[in-house]
Amino acid sequence: MDLTNAVAVVTGASGGLGAHFSRMLTDQGATVFGLARSTDTLNALENELGEAFHPITCDVRAEAQVEAAFETVNSEAERLDVLINNAGLGQFGPVDDLDTDAFDVQMDTNVRGVYLCTREVVPTMRAQNEVSGFGGHIVNVASIAGLLGNPNISAYNASKFAVRGFSEAVMKEVREDGIRVTCLYPGSVDTNFFDVAGSEMTENPLQPEDVAATVRHVLASPPNHLISEVVMRPLRPHREE
Ligand SMILES: NC(=O)c1ccc[n+]([C@@H]2O[C@H](COP(=O)([O-])OP(=O)(O)OC[C@H]3O[C@@H](n4cnc5c(N)ncnc54)[C@H](OP(=O)(O)O)[C@@H]3O)[C@@H](O)[C@H]2O)c1
Repeated sequence: MDLTNAVAVVTGASGGLGAHFSRMLTDQGATVFGLARSTDTLNALENELGEAFHPITCDVRAEAQVEAAFETVNSEAERLDVLINNAGLGQFGPVDDLDTDAFDVQMDTNVRGVYLCTREVVPTMRAQNEVSGFGGHIVNVASIAGLLGNPNISAYNASKFAVRGFSEAVMKEVREDGIRVTCLYPGSVDTNFFDVAGSEMTENPLQPEDVAATVRHVLASPPNHLISEVVMRPLRPHREE
């Protein structure tokens, strides 16, 4: 896809990977609607990226807020080419010490949020496919934790394994409608994620701009080409540079 003049929605755009995805997309000439809960941080990103970035305050767990956000997108943009389902969080700890709220917030954000946003874009993308022969591209940010279980991240593992299953199912469901679905499985990335998760980041993580460059490559793939899964890891996770 040529990203010049494309229209994208990025969830969790206020920081970390989402801010880097938004920057990469606006650098390519796309218009980005960035969703997150923190209005101030979204507005600061708008100041940096300019009028191509449209902040929308939205909690992806809340059905009515997601519906309202996509109503705004549909009224302000004539099309919708890219959805990056990136909003997410971890809350780590032993399973017998993990309270129900911590379990629920991970499932609600990482899984329910992906479902709520995906279902908003599929009809639009299907209609676009009828007109142009290409519907659009949905990128779901899972994690290496969507492939490998590990101690003390059971709820996060459960949520990201769910993103994997959801992505594969939807990919097979909509590919004939000209809609690509890609699931990303990054290892540790240098963001605020680990502060929220209550855990130490690995010494030598991936850089978010490098993950964004990989997504740019995935989005730019040729018409009859679907990169359905991408696993990325730091080469030397335990070696400080
Ligand atoms: N960092 C890593 O090592 C790593 C590795 C693999 C996968 N991931 C995945 O990458 C994604 C982005 O994480 P990150 O590393 O960029 O972490 P981050 O720096 O903590 O950013 C998380 C983003 O998600 C947003 N968010 C959280 N809950 C939300 C909600 N209910 N509604 C809307 N937005 C919400 C946050 O914004 P607000 O607080 O303003 O809402 C923030 O913009 C997540 O899905 C994460 O699981 C991260």
